[in-house]
Amino acid sequence: MASSSCCASASLLVSVFLAITTLALGGNFYEDFDNLFGDVRVDIKDEGQSMTLTMDEYSGSGIVSKNEYLFGRFDMQIKLVPGNSAGTVTAFYLSSQGDNHDEIDIEFLGNLTGDPYLLSTNIYADGVGGREMQYYLWFDPTEDFHTYSIDWNPNRIVILVDDIPIRVMLNRESIGVPFPTSRPMRLYTTLWNGDSWATRWGAVKLDLSNSPFVAGFRHFNSNACIANDQDGAAGCKGFNGGKSTGLSEEKKNEMQRVLSKWVVYDYCQDLRRYAHGLPYECRRENLLDQIE
Ligand SMILES: *[C@@H]1O[C@H](CO)[C@@H](O)[C@H](O)[C@H]1NC(C)=O
Repeated sequence: MASSSCCASASLLVSVFLAITTLALGGNFYEDFDNLFGDVRVDIKDEGQSMTLTMDEYSGSGIVSKNEYLFGRFDMQIKLVPGNSAGTVTAFYLSSQGDNHDEIDIEFLGNLTGDPYLLSTNIYADGVGGREMQYYLWFDPTEDFHTYSIDWNPNRIVILVDDIPIRVMLNRESIGVPFPTSRPMRLYTTLWNGDSWATRWGAVKLDLSNSPFVAGFRHFNSNACIANDQDGAAGCKGFNGGKSTGLSEEKKNEMQRVLSKWVVYDYCQDLRRYAHGLPYECRRENLLDQIE
C-alpha cells in the first residue's frame, strides 16, 4: 500500500513535468520576441513573418525572445547589410543571464564592398568562451536570404548554414568539458556597431555615409522547449526536438567540405594560443560519427 502510493505519486510527478513541458513550434516576430533596443529601427512586417533591423548614426537595433529555452532548434533566414558593411555586426545567438553564463553565437562581421563577410561562431559554457570558429561563406550573403540555424540538445550543438552543418560541439561533460545543459537561454537577433574589433581586427571603421545599415530577417522557426521557470526547465531535461538523428553520410560529406575549404580560424588549430596543449574538446576523432 505504502509503496504503491509512493509510485503513484512519483508517476504523477513525472506526468506533471511532461504536461508542463511546452514546445515552441513555428515562429512569429510579434508573438515570440520583444524589442530589445533601437525602437523604430526594429520593423516587423507581413503579420510577423519578416523584419528588418536598422542601424544609423544614433543606434543599432535588436530583439529578444519572450521565452527562455532549454534546448531546441532555431532557424532564421537572414539577408545581410549590403555594400560597405565594415564595422557592422549582425548577430543571431542564444544566451543565458547571470553568472557563469552559457551562450551559442552566430555573428556576421561586415566588410568593405566586395570583401567577404566573416561568419564567426563561439560557444560559452559555465561562463567560459574562447571557442571561436570563423568561416567565409560560399555565397554572397547580402544578395539573398539564407537560413542559419542553431540546433542544441543535451548531447550536442550543431550550427548550420542552409541545412549544412558547419560546426559541432559534443557534450563531454562526463570527462569534465563544460557544456550548456542547465541554464535556459533567450534568443537574440541584433545589428550593432562592432567597429572596435569586427573588421580586420578593428582597423576598418563604420562608414556612416553608407548609413542607414539594414539587414533583413524572415521565416523565424523554432522547435524548442520553453523553460521560463524551474518546472519548465525540469521538463526540458531530455529534450531533443522530438527526433534524435545523427548526420547522414551526405551531411557529413557536406560538413567535411566546409571544414576543408571555408574555415578561416579554428581555436582548436591555434597552437600559438594553446602552446601548452589544446582544450580537451578539440580532440575530434570520429566527431561526426558521434552526433546524435
Ligand atoms: C574582410 O576582408 C579582408 C580582405 O579580404 C579579409 O582579410 C577579412 O577576413 C574580411 N573580414 C573581416 C570581418 O575582416
